[in-house]
Amino acid sequence: MIVFGGTGDLSMRKLLPALYHSDRDGRLAPGSRVIALSRGGLTDAGFRGKVEAEVRPGLHADDAEGWERFLGRLRHVSLDVGGPRRDGWTALTHLLAGREDTARIFYLASPPATFGPFCRGVHDAGLVTPRSRVVLEKPLGRDLAGARRINDEVGAIFGEHQIFRIDHYLGKETVQNLLVLRFANAFLEPIWNSLWIDHVQITVAESVGTPGRRGYYDQAGALRDMVQNHLLQLLCLVAMEPPSRNDRESIRDEKLKVLQALRPITGTEADRFTVRGQYVAGEAGPGYLDEPDQTAPTTASHRVETFTAVRAEVKNWRWAGVPFYLRTGKRMPYRRSEIVVQFKDVPHSIFPGGGPNRLVLRLQPGEGIHLHIMAKEPGAGEVVPRPVPLSLSFADTFRTRVPEAYERLLMDVLAGNPTLFMRRDEVEAAWSWIDPIAATWEAAGTAPDPYPAGTSGPAAAHEMLGRSGRAWHEED
Ligand code: BG6
Repeated sequence: MIVFGGTGDLSMRKLLPALYHSDRDGRLAPGSRVIALSRGGLTDAGFRGKVEAEVRPGLHADDAEGWERFLGRLRHVSLDVGGPRRDGWTALTHLLAGREDTARIFYLASPPATFGPFCRGVHDAGLVTPRSRVVLEKPLGRDLAGARRINDEVGAIFGEHQIFRIDHYLGKETVQNLLVLRFANAFLEPIWNSLWIDHVQITVAESVGTPGRRGYYDQAGALRDMVQNHLLQLLCLVAMEPPSRNDRESIRDEKLKVLQALRPITGTEADRFTVRGQYVAGEAGPGYLDEPDQTAPTTASHRVETFTAVRAEVKNWRWAGVPFYLRTGKRMPYRRSEIVVQFKDVPHSIFPGGGPNRLVLRLQPGEGIHLHIMAKEPGAGEVVPRPVPLSLSFADTFRTRVPEAYERLLMDVLAGNPTLFMRRDEVEAAWSWIDPIAATWEAAGTAPDPYPAGTSGPAAAHEMLGRSGRAWHEED
């Protein structure tokens, strides 16, 4: 595996830990190597020292022998992709010589603008073999045109079957379990539609802010950083039709149909169906503009959203009229990702009180599935229904280590299985829906609504649901 951006944040926080765990579980072939590419002039020993200092402490790597074996797999090559010097390419070519028959993964953990030049460089150095694959990290561009350009550039060198566009949410256990829940159980399918479901909520709330990420985040914002990929992928898995097979194309075909059925939000509709927020100083810390960073805030910093809520609609037979509320934000009061499917009220209630059933799929923390049903509280007196959860906690039920999303996905790349990766048409369909929203916001040229750090977004996000008598699911 050749990781471009090999000493960066993603590599150190996610990729190397995932590879270490895979190695410890015996899932890396003997002789496998991880070659980090970066501009910093590190030696192999220098890179290993950095990994020892920065990666190992977070791993509980108490198996000294296994850790040494893993370190032994690491190499570093200094490479300046766009620069005039060729010595990095020569060194890489040298390292890969004689291994033309083994799987070769180019992992692009670098800004999207470098994807094209890197692929051309790899090609010009003669390093692309039939068993080569390339992994692209999100975000793929900033809009549809940018995504197409990158897809064209990468596609000029690698075939679509060699391209793995990663969305790490698809590697999360609960997300995969959603497919099993929907398509390996009979009881849900008859009620999984607009006759029985009132609305769906998808929340990815983070308590972290964006210190040190201004350069990237000013350009991305919550809509491009999270909604275009993670939240829309979750929406697809909730809304898709049952595929006829569990294979690479069938699932992606069905997801694509959902993306194509999303009702566009254009012009003034953005005022009613979207909310933008930016955190300001509050209980949980400084505001976005005051986060420590190497660069000072610019006009873009003032306009970028760190929170967004969107009311989406899937215009097809199954979902007509069912709102899908999406929200995500930084510096919210908790870290919680969940999908809430809220059913309709009973047609006629014979009890006082009560409320709708909810199916809560908790992605993190505490992966599990909770079905809120109404039950009678024990005791004499008036019968009053109370919501109680039927709960399945994955940790308690399966008692096995839940692998990190990246671990699962990297093994899929090694196995050449792209089912949990985004196909070109999916990414582009997602951008087609995002672009008009982003364009309306940009044309408005206004700042997002402020919300204090440590709160659950601006009031407008609550009002958006409140207008139809609904509310965000806030219980634990
Ligand atoms: C990344 C985003 O894709 O996902 C980050 O770029 C975000 O801004 C992260 O923090 C969230 O991932 P997770 O797995 O921690 O929920």
